[in-house]
Amino acid sequence: MPRESRDRSHTDRGHRRLHGRRKGHKLRPAQQRAVTELLPQLRVTLPAEGETLDPPGLFETPPRAIWLEIGFGGGEHLAWQAAHNPDVGFIGVEVFQDGIAKLLRRVEDDGLRNVRIFHGDGRDFIEALPEASVDRAFILFPDPWPKARHHKRRFIQQDQLDALARVLVDGGELRLATDDPGYQRWMTIELTRHPAFEWTARRAADWRERGADWPATRYEMKALGQARSPIYLKYRRRPR
Ligand SMILES: C[S@@+](CC[C@H](N)C(=O)[O-])C[C@H]1O[C@@H](n2cnc3c(N)ncnc32)[C@H](O)[C@@H]1O
Repeated sequence: MPRESRDRSHTDRGHRRLHGRRKGHKLRPAQQRAVTELLPQLRVTLPAEGETLDPPGLFETPPRAIWLEIGFGGGEHLAWQAAHNPDVGFIGVEVFQDGIAKLLRRVEDDGLRNVRIFHGDGRDFIEALPEASVDRAFILFPDPWPKARHHKRRFIQQDQLDALARVLVDGGELRLATDDPGYQRWMTIELTRHPAFEWTARRAADWRERGADWPATRYEMKALGQARSPIYLKYRRRPR
């Protein structure tokens, strides 16, 4: 962590406009305690202007790979991945305070030592990462912003794909999912347009099913309960 680390982790200090919820219900006592006691140990802050983060240096022992999840919601996917891949360093990014508290409780309950958390905007966080520093990135069920006038708020845009392409290693993986039909079309078109990403699907089951190393998220369960069929996309970062 850079010595002169400046706390730009709260989105209202960031330079980008962030849409959507940041606070929900009052936290339960155990969640509040986790935020007060555990978050300071796991929290990642943005480095000072002109400096970059050192992701492996955030962990007690250097991990074999760095995996990043943006918008982890309640953290169920991230906690599952962290428990199943103890030699990988996980960085979760979320703006919603309740989601941070839920992930902290999972980290405590499961005794996870390989999770770090950035409470803020994923776009700011990606910008602070060094080139080719992330082996895998997950953006699962990002807010769909279905109205045409809100499409510019969607996370998956060419500029964010440029940013993700910069931080992913050659051959690194980008995993995306959405249940919104409009965003499904949008995502596949945006990714197809981008020269750095190659879709790895070979047959329909590759995007219709999650696969054994991809647990369900809360939003996915909600979508399935409302008879919406999600798609699961895996892209490979082409060699530079
Ligand atoms: C629809 S929810 C999906 C949550 C979770 N991935 C799941 O599948 O259950 C989208 C999440 O992304 C978060 N989010 C939205 N914009 C974000 C941003 N710019 N940076 C980080 N998180 C963001 C929201 O707070 C919300 O928790």
